[in-house]
Amino acid sequence: MNSTEQIIRRCVEETDSPIDLWRIDMWIRFLNSVQAKHMAEVGVYTGRFASYILKGCESIEKYYMIDPWRHLDNFNKPENMSDDIFEDFLSETKLKTDFAAEKRIILRGKTTEVIDQIQDGELDFAYIDGDHTLRGISIDLVRVYPKIKAGGWIGGDDFVKNLWQHRSKFEPTFVFPFAVYFAEAVGARIYALPGAQFLMEKNINSSFSFIDLTGKYQDTALRDQLIPSRILKLKLKEKFPFMSKVFSGVKRIVLK
Ligand SMILES: C[S@@+](CC[C@H](N)C(=O)[O-])C[C@H]1O[C@@H](n2cnc3c(N)ncnc32)[C@H](O)[C@@H]1O
Repeated sequence: MNSTEQIIRRCVEETDSPIDLWRIDMWIRFLNSVQAKHMAEVGVYTGRFASYILKGCESIEKYYMIDPWRHLDNFNKPENMSDDIFEDFLSETKLKTDFAAEKRIILRGKTTEVIDQIQDGELDFAYIDGDHTLRGISIDLVRVYPKIKAGGWIGGDDFVKNLWQHRSKFEPTFVFPFAVYFAEAVGARIYALPGAQFLMEKNINSSFSFIDLTGKYQDTALRDQLIPSRILKLKLKEKFPFMSKVFSGVKRIVLK
């Protein structure tokens, strides 16, 4: 077991916060354990994660906040709001993190528009929580990875097995498996963590491995989720939620 694995296993085991705070407290433990100094968050929204991290991690000297805070036509996810709402979210973010204004660098724009304001190899850590579609996660990992120093890490949210995490009118979520394929391509170790989190370790001397701390990823194939009959079932469940409950009840009684 290498040192990152020891640290992340300990952080996961020792975090016993309620579900809405679990990922935040776990990352605070991790960032304190590795004494991260320069970090970036991709996808900041209302600044909730940023404010907790800046409060909980004294070692952080520079916190890059990357978010366009504007409506994006090709971001088909529930977090895509109107320009007005995003304007309020940016004000809220500033208000919540004013106590750490000297550490905060606001980069307003899509990852592709602003990422090169960070130098290659500058970051100890980046937290990727922007556009979780296949397009979004591929752009973010490809563009953020060079910004991480050797021996640094990328963490991220929405690493879930279910591609149809949101309703089928939204684009599917592809953080899993894309982050795993990306780790394999660049020869990095990647960990699946509870709370829909992942951690990737950038280490020139290590090779790819996928370490699953959740027990959910023995089978990583996508076929079952993309098979037309499964999608039809999903559509029917969304259209007739009551009928679907009745069918599940009947099935349970019959199979008892
Ligand atoms: C799930 S929210 C982030 C939540 C936040 N990290 C937290 O934990 O409090 C997703 C954010 O990603 C941003 N986003 C969407 N597309 C983006 C892109 N191409 N580049 C950077 N951020 C993007 C959205 O504007 C939105 O604010």
